[in-house]
Amino acid sequence: MTGNEPAPDGILRLINGYWATGVVGTAAAHSLFTHLEQGAGDAAELAARAGIAERGAQTLLDGLVSVGLVELHEGRYRNTAEASAYLVDGGPTSLTGFARLKLKHMAGLADLPDVVRAGGPVRDAVVEVADNPHWEELVTALAAQSVPAATIAAEALGVADAGPVSLLDVGGGSGVYSAVWLEANPAARSTQLDWERINVIARRLLAERGLADRFTTVSGDFHTTDFGTGTYDFAVYSHIAHQEGPEDNVAVFSRLRDALKPGGALVVCDYVVDDDRGGPAFPLMFGAEMLLKSKQGGTWRRSDYHGWLVKAGFTDISYHPAPPATVVIAR
Ligand SMILES: C[S@@+](CC[C@H](N)C(=O)[O-])C[C@H]1O[C@@H](n2cnc3c(N)ncnc32)[C@H](O)[C@@H]1O
Repeated sequence: MTGNEPAPDGILRLINGYWATGVVGTAAAHSLFTHLEQGAGDAAELAARAGIAERGAQTLLDGLVSVGLVELHEGRYRNTAEASAYLVDGGPTSLTGFARLKLKHMAGLADLPDVVRAGGPVRDAVVEVADNPHWEELVTALAAQSVPAATIAAEALGVADAGPVSLLDVGGGSGVYSAVWLEANPAARSTQLDWERINVIARRLLAERGLADRFTTVSGDFHTTDFGTGTYDFAVYSHIAHQEGPEDNVAVFSRLRDALKPGGALVVCDYVVDDDRGGPAFPLMFGAEMLLKSKQGGTWRRSDYHGWLVKAGFTDISYHPAPPATVVIAR
């Protein structure tokens, strides 16, 4: 040691990264951010409102200050702007369900040494098998992340003013794209293709928003279910490409090209990495999730999407940031 070495605290924070998952997921589970938003400002007040121990509340507050989601202001705690926007319960962009889900997923990471040796899942953790119950938990937790991307895509395509257009959402999950687009355009109609147990959730959520009469579902495996020919003005394939290998993505893009009317547009949303794999940080890390859970998936590069879309017959391809995802629009 010369005394000039970098300090180890950054590495220690990474090695203990699961502390952050634990603290944020637990705070979400006890609605701490919601109680802070509603005026609780110290451990005793939070403990009383959340029904947890004061010692537990103080520990969570310390952890949340540590990760930068809560700040101290004149001796009282309050949410940072980020926590107010994304960690208060109930809003369409609330990520609290996702934080709780990730707390449950944490143990699975212990398989990663075996998974990287094998080059794929080592347990029954594969997500792309038919009717995996994994999806039921995931799709509602994921919906909040897809609201901003669905909004960005709708704006880029002028969906609100497009008149009586039709949308096919492949693997639509909770129906979030349909909800955002049908709300933006009262003349639009949407069809979602997903497993029946997921379509049940989407139909319920769309009905709650008064959109049921313009929303239909088709149940089945998108690898084998017919998409139709020249039928839709828009198609969406959001957060699916990462679970698939190159050949399957080209096959789906080609079938979606055929399903679109002439001039129609395909929206692909996913965690896309730079061509040199130098960033962005979130998509780079997401690859570990796909190694754990899919046989062929991964975080694909912008040039992968470009090549696959061109092979499928698209000619006009543009990229729209929706951090941490990217919206790719192809015509
Ligand atoms: C990660 S979620 C994405 C949900 C939604 N598109 C979004 O972006 O929020 C993946 C969705 O694809 C569906 N899915 C996965 N594999 C499928 C398959 N082979 N056939 C039909 N649906 C599938 C899942 O049920 C789930 O709803």
